[in-house]
Amino acid sequence: MATQFYSTASIVESDRSFVWHPFTQMQTAHLPIPIASAKGVYLYDVNGRSYLDAISSWWVNIHGHTHPYIVEKIKAQLECLEHVIFAGFTHAPAAELAARLINILPGKMAKIFFSDNGSTAVEVALKMALQYWHNQKIERREVICFKNGYHGDTFGTMSAAGRNEFNRPFWRHLFDVKVIDPPFSGQEERSIAQLQSVLKNGRAACFIFEPLVQGSGGMMIYSAQGLSHLIRMCQENSVLTIADEVMTGFGRTGTLFACDQLSAMPDLICLSKGLTGGFLPLGATACTSNIFNAFLGDYLPQAFLHGHSYTANPLACTSALASLDLLLAKECALQRAMIATEHHNFCQQWHLHPKLKRCESLGTIMALEYESKTRSYFQPLRDSLYFFFLDKGILLRPLGNVLYIMPPYCINANELKSIYKQITHTLEGEFL
Ligand SMILES: Cc1ncc(COP(=O)(O)O)c(C=O)c1O
Repeated sequence: MATQFYSTASIVESDRSFVWHPFTQMQTAHLPIPIASAKGVYLYDVNGRSYLDAISSWWVNIHGHTHPYIVEKIKAQLECLEHVIFAGFTHAPAAELAARLINILPGKMAKIFFSDNGSTAVEVALKMALQYWHNQKIERREVICFKNGYHGDTFGTMSAAGRNEFNRPFWRHLFDVKVIDPPFSGQEERSIAQLQSVLKNGRAACFIFEPLVQGSGGMMIYSAQGLSHLIRMCQENSVLTIADEVMTGFGRTGTLFACDQLSAMPDLICLSKGLTGGFLPLGATACTSNIFNAFLGDYLPQAFLHGHSYTANPLACTSALASLDLLLAKECALQRAMIATEHHNFCQQWHLHPKLKRCESLGTIMALEYESKTRSYFQPLRDSLYFFFLDKGILLRPLGNVLYIMPPYCINANELKSIYKQITHTLEGEFL
């Protein structure tokens, strides 16, 4: 346990006075919980109370908190190079990480462009796709996306999600997109017909999607076959495809990347979250040589004039390399398979429960949707569920009436069962 330098009251007081938290209504929010340390799947508050982090701290942590192997690698890197400008200079962690990512990514990825979070990884992909056409003086500007998608909180990524309640204040500032329905199982034909209609005018530049599961939109799982079909239609019409694997990457869906389950491959892949194992912020956008080549020339404006101060930070790249070592080890694959099996078995047992609209899993992700008139993030059920689990020492952060588990891969079967047990209490008891 970390040394207690501050009292609970002083941290919370200082936080309340000076901090503005993300996704939080600051007027009505409960006081935040001051966390002092973390180990494996557990977070410890300043009073020593533990919380099982069943959502991997916003989906970033894949091997558990303060994993000693990653800690050691970062410490060693810290002794020799903490950061360096990434234009005109490079360093071993970035060069090695790019090579290793290219080696394991699906499709024919040729280059990695580093940034520093999920939104920037997507923003970069969108800008690359649009400039690809601009550089060739071809009039293609339309962006196609799925209804109910989420790609981040910057203007480009908000635009690429289509208009929704989260980005309403900015609607007039977002660029227009063509929105189609995701190919949910049994509804693939509708998506195909919608895409056909959008592709007709020949002005589409790119199609962006969260492969296989729409995360923030409610952990909505859809058909791999259907998505492969849509990607092929784009390819036939020379439309670039962007897989946003920010949430699905690094083993979440049962394969290393969600695109590994497709029969057609994207032109660009966006990565972040699990990339560093959840230790440090880093974004990466992978693209094919076809895209990279469209930026080559004697003329600087033909280049991709985009970059961030902390691009390819050496500590973050080192963390990502260490996380990859752990991810590709046999023990981690066995852990992911164990989680997938436990989730699957739970869903088999409970999916027909009258209080549930659905209960399904994909790899290490499990989602339950409680019966309700609407599926909305702003539902009061969200808070009741959040505090119910918190009271039991489990951190789960429902998306409205959708509860999901996305744990670090080091969780054990007993810990998983302890979460399931509390879920069954919400179904069988007086909770709802
Ligand atoms: C699919 C997807 N893309 C992009 C993002 C944005 O990532 P970040 O929060 O790191 O900007 C998220 C975040 O949840 C995401 O789920």
